[in-house]
This record gives sequence, structure tokens and C-alpha cells, in this order.
Amino acid sequence: MTTDSTHGPQVSFTRMDQSTPEDIALIVAESKIHLNDPLPDTMIAMLEALRGPTVGYQIDRYNHSLQTASRALREGADTDLVIAALLHDVGDAIAPANHSELAAAIVRPYLSEEATWVVKHHGVFQGYHYWDRLGLDTDARERYRDSPYFDTCAHFCAEWDQVSFDPEYDTLPIETFVPMLREVFTRPASGFGTD
Ligand SMILES: [Fe+2]
Ligand SMILES: [Fe+2]
Repeated sequence: MTTDSTHGPQVSFTRMDQSTPEDIALIVAESKIHLNDPLPDTMIAMLEALRGPTVGYQIDRYNHSLQTASRALREGADTDLVIAALLHDVGDAIAPANHSELAAAIVRPYLSEEATWVVKHHGVFQGYHYWDRLGLDTDARERYRDSPYFDTCAHFCAEWDQVSFDPEYDTLPIETFVPMLREVFTRPASGFGTD
């Protein structure tokens, strides 16, 4: 191990198959400091990236996200579903064509299976409310009818997501959700090494 004044402690290997247990322990410790611990702030920055263009709606994607989470919180949803509501569209900034899938991948190690499922499938469930105007099948969500999370996802879209484009709604600020973000993203990540 060496210490670089710019980058901090560093391993001496250049190939992972030549690493020692001490090397890997160092990588794990440094990853916690530089990758895991900043995650709540990273999520806030990802939400911030949704500020700006309203892409035709009356509010931007940032306010839509906060409004969706505000409705979930006010209805008494559990923390996982509130954070799912807050982050369900963060994929829009870099993967607009499959934003549900991307957001689900981000939250999956930290949220419940139910909340992750809802994030992953909210796009097709949202379609129930408007896809006929695109010439698409509003019942496309029916292929998930047997899922134990079908009703939760339907409710998520009907009551929180598809109604949250309202500039008159009393949307809660990001500060309301920061303690929940910190709680969720400091949980031990599940599923490491399974992909
Ligand atoms: Fe969405
Ligand atoms: Fe949304």
C-alpha cells in the first residue's frame, strides 16, 4: 500500500487477481467513504438534474418528483414507498427511454422488494391513465395482474404519480425528505455480487 497525496491510500496492484486481502479491505474502506457515504447527496443531485425544462408539462420533473413524494407521505405511505415516489423518475436525466428500469436498478439494493417493483413498473402502469391517446394499450399493465405488488403499483400511479403535474399543489420541499433519504441510503446494500 502507498499513500498518494492527491488520492489518499492506494493499493500497489494493477490487476485484481494479484490483490491481497489487505488490498481489498482498503478498497472496501475507501469505497465506503467515497462512494457509499455520499449516496444520499448523490440522489439529491440526481433530482436536481431534473430541474429546468418542463418538456411541455406545467411543472418540471424535479417538482413532479417532490409532488409525487408529498402525496405518498401525506397518505401515510411507508418510508420505502415515499422514497420510491421521490426517485421514481430520476432515470429521466440519462435514460428517458427506459427510465423506470434505471431508477429501479438504483434503488433495488436499498428499498423493499415491493417499492423496487413499483419503481420498475410504474411506466407501464402510468400508461393506464393516458396511453389510449398515444394509440397504445392502456391495459398493458394486465400482464402483471398476478404480481403481489400489482395493486400497490396501480395505487402509486393513480393517486401519487399521474396526478402530480399540478402547479397549484402544496408540494413539500426536498428538506422534508432528506432524513428519509439518509436512512434509506445508509442501509447495508443487499444483493452485492449477485449481478
Ligand atoms: Fe415515470
Ligand atoms: Fe412520474
